[in-house]
Amino acid sequence: MKVLVTGGLGYIGSHVVVELQQQGYQVVIIDNLMNSSESVIDGIVEITGITPEFEKFDLRDKKNVRDFFKRHKDLQDVIHFAASKAVGESVKDPLLYYENNLNSLIYLLQELQGAEQANFIFSSSCTVYGQADILPITEDAPIKPAESPYGNTKQIGEEIILDVCKANQNINTISLRYFNPIGAHPSASIGELPQGIPQNLVPFITQTAIGLREQLSVFGNDYPTRDGTCIRDFIHVVDLAKAHVVALQRLQKKQNTNHFEVFNIGTGQGSTVLEVIRTFEEVSGIDLNYKFADRRSGDIVAAYADTQKANSVLGWRSELQLRDALESAWSWEKKIRDNKTSPY
Ligand code: NAD
Ligand code: WQD
Repeated sequence: MKVLVTGGLGYIGSHVVVELQQQGYQVVIIDNLMNSSESVIDGIVEITGITPEFEKFDLRDKKNVRDFFKRHKDLQDVIHFAASKAVGESVKDPLLYYENNLNSLIYLLQELQGAEQANFIFSSSCTVYGQADILPITEDAPIKPAESPYGNTKQIGEEIILDVCKANQNINTISLRYFNPIGAHPSASIGELPQGIPQNLVPFITQTAIGLREQLSVFGNDYPTRDGTCIRDFIHVVDLAKAHVVALQRLQKKQNTNHFEVFNIGTGQGSTVLEVIRTFEEVSGIDLNYKFADRRSGDIVAAYADTQKANSVLGWRSELQLRDALESAWSWEKKIRDNKTSPY
């Protein structure tokens, strides 16, 4: 019942660790803390009462990865989050992204090749679809040329895994293509910790509301959508976390029909940027200071998931609403800024 969660102290990984522990799994985390903090463990313990095992090292170090698996010979379940994820940074420093996101993946798979049976869950992204021609987006939608080195690492990552699964029938993988994860645990014990100026919409909204940023820029109000702003499928991180447990159980019970399966993980509902702002204003009671600005380069007009495959084959569906996600994001923001003892 022991599961390796790489990047388990990061935003999504920490929520998955909580769900796993609440389902009775023992967890071992590998994280080099390049985009997280060891104090996230305290938040996990606050929620679950259980301290996960934690090993701090860099997955780009092949020897470390090998030593780890020598010490954990019976480990066969891996959920792999560890990666660099900032789209803009990946354009400026592509080699960091190719090195981190691909080498870490390759070194892990090299160790799993020798296992009797290995179950591997991969963090992929709706970014692989680019601007899809048909909405909602099904898993069969064509993969478009990547808009960024980050997006390319997800496409190449999936291709690497597919080839490895073909060559090694003992490795079974589910690749989860997340749409836009937002929100925090309802306890406000764990949440998103963006470094520097947030690039994503919801942390920018909450940081503006708390007074850390002066004003939110809404990138573009002349898109061909119902109010002129872009449409995304915002999924509560707790719902997303639960999808990982269900996916792992599918592999453990050998219910998968292919060695490599793909599922879209979203709500199936598209919300515009303005709808997100209005909903945030409702749940927080704050008038958000925002203005319309030019379109952001590389943004697609609209993306939301067709969740039929996840619903019927995986047996998972999102349960929480946009307002729940925004309420939890706001509680988390208030907690980390108001609490004088906060390490953040
Ligand atoms: P995050 O940065 O919060 O978490 C990633 C964690 O991995 C961090 O704790 C970081 O310190 C760790 N890490 C990175 N490189 C490492 C390495 N070489 N060795 C050890 N640890 C390392 O990111 P997140 O938002 O939780 O994303 C998790 C995964 O989901 C990533 O693979 C990301 O690409 C993918 N994803 C994220 C989103 C999103 O919007 N957040 C959307 C789609 C896919
Ligand atoms: C959402 C909408 C912006 C900030 C990114 C990655 C994608 C995936 C999820 C990892 C867009 C608008 C944003 C702001 C704004 N990550 N916006 N003002 O771009 O859909 O996806 O995160 O795999 O790969 O590209 O998310 O939150 O950045 O933007 O108006 O200050 O909000 O233009 O329309 P995006 P986002």
